[in-house]
Amino acid sequence: IAEQARTAVEQASTTAALEQVRVQYLGRKAELPNLLRGVAELPPEQRGAVGKAANVARRDLEAAIAARGEALQAAELETRLVGDRVDVTLPGDPPQPVGRLHVLTQTRREIEDVFVGLGFSVLEGPEVESVFYNFDALNHTPTHPARARTDTFYIEGARHADTDTEVVLRTHTSPMQIRAMQETPPPLYVIIPGRVYRRDSDATHTPQFHQVEGLAVDTDITLADLKGTLLDFSRAIFGPDREVRLRPHFFPFTEPSVEVDVSCFNCARDGSPCQVCKGTGWLEILGAGMVDPNVFGYVREHGYDPDEVQGFAFGMGIERIAALKYGIPDIRTLYTNDVRVLEQFG
Ligand code: PHE
Repeated sequence: IAEQARTAVEQASTTAALEQVRVQYLGRKAELPNLLRGVAELPPEQRGAVGKAANVARRDLEAAIAARGEALQAAELETRLVGDRVDVTLPGDPPQPVGRLHVLTQTRREIEDVFVGLGFSVLEGPEVESVFYNFDALNHTPTHPARARTDTFYIEGARHADTDTEVVLRTHTSPMQIRAMQETPPPLYVIIPGRVYRRDSDATHTPQFHQVEGLAVDTDITLADLKGTLLDFSRAIFGPDREVRLRPHFFPFTEPSVEVDVSCFNCARDGSPCQVCKGTGWLEILGAGMVDPNVFGYVREHGYDPDEVQGFAFGMGIERIAALKYGIPDIRTLYTNDVRVLEQFG
């Protein structure tokens, strides 16, 4: 038995197999313990010799199992350590591509942040708009060219119930001037970002684009407030050294009306006249003006008496601001969603 058991111990190649050997030879039902339990029944003269031999065999076997057990455990630990080893010098997983906001979204948010910082609230309004809000209440004459079906998208056959006028895709965010004044009495300081639509398409025009409207109405508002506000805006968006310039212009709903230029930041960079401003040193960024008293006439009953309040308004194209700021030559690339283009911003 002792011989067999020793061979079995040596052949056990795992700690689990060794445990089986232990149960087989030393467990409760095994031969050797049985033998030891039977010693008491032997004739007295045999007890001493048999008992001693069996005990020695058992102790030897226990010792052999213990020794083999330690050796197997050490070997198994070694295998596990080798298998689990991490090579910290291997290169890591390649970085995951990171998404980002579209450059137009970034630009819109930047513009919003500037005006929110100046105390303006942000409003939104309908893109499908009535001719009343888009043109009539903004003092457009009945024959104003912007009303033409070649310039503006009309919703065929639709009629706006409240104002009994035709329905268009808004051509600017200015109709929200009227809606904002109908909703809230003065003082009013709001900006309105949103989509607008015109029948136009080339490198600097897309049929759908984005504007941010601004409207401030209060007592004692002057053109100087408009200029100061837009100077702050320009410096926040285009850099601290910018200047602004107002040029006379015409819009039906502001009087006087101006086009606003910002001093060219491209020329400033290398000191010489640049292509972007074509050497003039100025870039046109938006249209603006003092709210025309005729426009207040449409919202007089909402607290906008033209003898009591004045206001300034402005409207800018987000695509144009982004194109100037980032030097984007063709704004149509903003809509083709080529990640190689979009990745370059932010
Ligand atoms: N709505 C005008 C446009 O689309 C811009 C503008 C807004 C001008 C407000 C004056 C005041 O071109």
